[in-house]
Amino acid sequence: MKQPSIILGIETSCDETSAAVLVDGTVRSNIISSQLFHSRYGGVVPELASRAHARIITDVVQEALSKANVPAVELTAVAATQGPGLVGSLLVGLSFGKAMAYGLNVPFVGVNHIEGHLYSNFLQEKQPSYPFLSLIVSGGHTMLVHVSAPLKSKVLGQTRDDAAGEAFDKVAKMLGLGYPGGPIIDTLAMKGDASAISFPRSFLNSNDSDFSFSGIKTAVLYYLRDSGFLAEDVDPASMDEEHRANICASFQAAVVEVLVGKTIAAAGRLGINDVTLAGGVSANSLLRSLMEKETSERGLRLFYPPIEYCMDNAAMIAYVGWMKLQRGFFSPLDIPAVAGLELV
Ligand code: KG4
Ligand code: ZN
Repeated sequence: MKQPSIILGIETSCDETSAAVLVDGTVRSNIISSQLFHSRYGGVVPELASRAHARIITDVVQEALSKANVPAVELTAVAATQGPGLVGSLLVGLSFGKAMAYGLNVPFVGVNHIEGHLYSNFLQEKQPSYPFLSLIVSGGHTMLVHVSAPLKSKVLGQTRDDAAGEAFDKVAKMLGLGYPGGPIIDTLAMKGDASAISFPRSFLNSNDSDFSFSGIKTAVLYYLRDSGFLAEDVDPASMDEEHRANICASFQAAVVEVLVGKTIAAAGRLGINDVTLAGGVSANSLLRSLMEKETSERGLRLFYPPIEYCMDNAAMIAYVGWMKLQRGFFSPLDIPAVAGLELV
């Protein structure tokens, strides 16, 4: 009888320490510990992030194993994120994963973080068919990827400056709203009027799949200055609630319209039927509803992962590890952590 594949996945590329156990491709546990203390600094502080990963990685891995009811000796492979990400943070998970694989004498596989997001939609029952188009939107990335077959993908375009999530975080900071800004703006925008302020929709009608979000960030800054809020970080108490909600709603609508417009245009150009969303920003309620509307009007199918697989998580890393191992691919133990690892 064939032995089951029992994979431990580890993800520490940014500010989430995560470990997961997958048995034959099915998630048995997915522990995510978020480093909330970065909110104090308005963004992730790399040195503090890697120290925090190092402090807690053993506990997170142990919790993932015990929740899955899998003793470490039963693992058949270990997968860990190799990059892209913060190099000090990556090193913690990558070294831990390699050491476990070495100690247990099982294969080790290094996984591209973006590839993890790409396949996060396969951690649920309803799965896309190949070929599909994926919009990956997070704090670090905004890109459109064409996935023609398992583990075969091509980046169609990406942001030339800020990632969409980064724009959410920076605008939230300007409004004195805290970090991470995406979920806060999403909630406040529900009470606002999206047509109140006209912010730019950069690159919406360009005939490619590239994005740019630094212009809208500057537009919000100039809008605040012209409205009499002189400091870069507005004291929330100095702005009335309706005004703030209108800024959030108008900003969010501009970003989301570009994300949706460019995805739909690329799907049309390529004649693709299945579209997936992945990454932290895919939790955004307007992005989901507008994408839902635009895809269903065109008879396209839309997939997005549950929130726990939208954010950085180890289940998606273990899943890609499983796909690679099934195809006979594993990594030597001397692979380095690579901050700017490319997708292909
Ligand atoms: O994928 P993720 O957890 O980490 C990265 O790889 O970056 O994404 C985090 C990003 C942050 O910028 C956060 O503000 C954004 O995702 N985000 C959202 C929402 N929830 C998280 N952005 C917009 N709307 C949301 N509901
Ligand atoms: Zn990510």
